[in-house]
Amino acid sequence: MKDNAVSQWGKVGVELSKLLKILTLNVAQATHNLARRKDPIKDKTVSAKGKVRVEVHGLWKIFGSGTEQIIGSELQSESKETILEKTGCVVAVRGVSFKVKQGEFFVIMGLSGSGKSTLIRMLLRLIEPTAGEILIDGEDVCSYNERQLTKLRRHTTSMVFQHFGLLPHRNVIDNVAYGLKVRGVAKKKRYPSAQKVIETVGLKGWESYLPYALSGGMQQRVGLARALATDPEILLMDEPFSGLDPLIRREMQDELLDIQEKVKKTIIFVTHDLHEALKLGNRIAIMRDGGIIQIGTPEEVITAPIDAYVREFVKDATPARVLTARNIMEQPHILLYDWQGPGAALYILTTAKLDNAFLVNRAGKLLGLVTAERLKELIQKNSTEIADALEPDLPTCTPDTVVEDLFPLAASTLYPVPVVDDQGKLNGEIHTSTILVSMIQAKEAEEEEAVKEKEIAA
Ligand SMILES: Nc1ncnc2c1ncn2[C@@H]1O[C@H](COP(=O)(O)OP(=O)(O)OP(=O)(O)O)[C@@H](O)[C@H]1O
Ligand SMILES: [Mg+2]
Repeated sequence: MKDNAVSQWGKVGVELSKLLKILTLNVAQATHNLARRKDPIKDKTVSAKGKVRVEVHGLWKIFGSGTEQIIGSELQSESKETILEKTGCVVAVRGVSFKVKQGEFFVIMGLSGSGKSTLIRMLLRLIEPTAGEILIDGEDVCSYNERQLTKLRRHTTSMVFQHFGLLPHRNVIDNVAYGLKVRGVAKKKRYPSAQKVIETVGLKGWESYLPYALSGGMQQRVGLARALATDPEILLMDEPFSGLDPLIRREMQDELLDIQEKVKKTIIFVTHDLHEALKLGNRIAIMRDGGIIQIGTPEEVITAPIDAYVREFVKDATPARVLTARNIMEQPHILLYDWQGPGAALYILTTAKLDNAFLVNRAGKLLGLVTAERLKELIQKNSTEIADALEPDLPTCTPDTVVEDLFPLAASTLYPVPVVDDQGKLNGEIHTSTILVSMIQAKEAEEEEAVKEKEIAA
């Protein structure tokens, strides 16, 4: 047992050096990316599948007068400060482009003043763009007349603001049904619809209360319910949870993920909280000084930050909560195939100096794990069926399993954890020593967090 533990820790050392190698590679990649970043970033990260719902090309917002002259002139590429100094105009959004697909959870993240609210409001022309193009479902929103704009704001989309702006003299159900009322939906129809959404956000029983009688978190739920009640295709949310304390905030995030799982809306969500972005986003766009400087999946943003700014931004992220099995899996040294007999399999294992290996069929589907010990037993019994040597109760994970969720597996198995895709194919394996390294890192990050919290409290 002791020997086993010692050899585990030996393996941890080996894995640590592997992780260091990965980190070094990522820094090299980031440096390479930085060197490449001359042009404004184009959104090449959107997946090929699915319908594009929102598409933005070269969108600008400059506050002030004579702003049109700045775009296209030499001043355009100057810093925000220089432009302000020379023209008195404020560049809020600088030539951004991105695409959001049906059902996607797209997060816009950036420090205060980076242009997030201006950008999200421009999508509905609550703020008029200075230049650029906005397409929603392929239609050019900038050419919309008032009637088309109202339809866009009332039917296709819903916006949730940081302070929900609930109607103080109307009770919960009237607040939630308000969007339907302005659409002209009859009372008989709008109340049952509102009631349904109230239940979805967990506010059943509070229908007749006025907003002042609700806690902050509950008022946020009313705001969310109001946005969902009109059944919009696209949900725009500007820091909806930023006023909440951490526990309620986490609860609201989980609620939103549950709702998204059920209703599959397209969501554009603004936050300046990294963990919120990493938890919710399918992709994250990072803004600085009005521009989008990186767009990518949470994994891409964490593992290959494009420059020092993004690296600084993501340095507090706990890798175990972000990285998935896909990032840390390895290719098995050998595989056993279901057409091989126990004798051949044992020969392959012993020559590879291994105690076990995964068994797959011709299509690469995982059948299980075979150990040398079981093969020897089979051979003694004169059996020819290699499948009889499978280990029972083999834990598996998918390529998308978050590393943190692998922690309990590390304790429950003596063998590598196979990574299996939704077709049952073996994609790779994860060694318990790799999981142990992640656990140590996560624990260290937690301890650092606790120390910081203590310092703040003091
Ligand atoms: N009406 C306005 N007139 C002039 N400047 C403005 C106006 N609205 C916003 N700005 C400026 O545009 C820039 C972007 O502001 P914006 O509100 O979009 O930032 P943000 O990323 O949402 O910040 P926060 O996280 O604090 O909400 C800021 O420099 C801000 O001062
Ligand atoms: Mg804002």
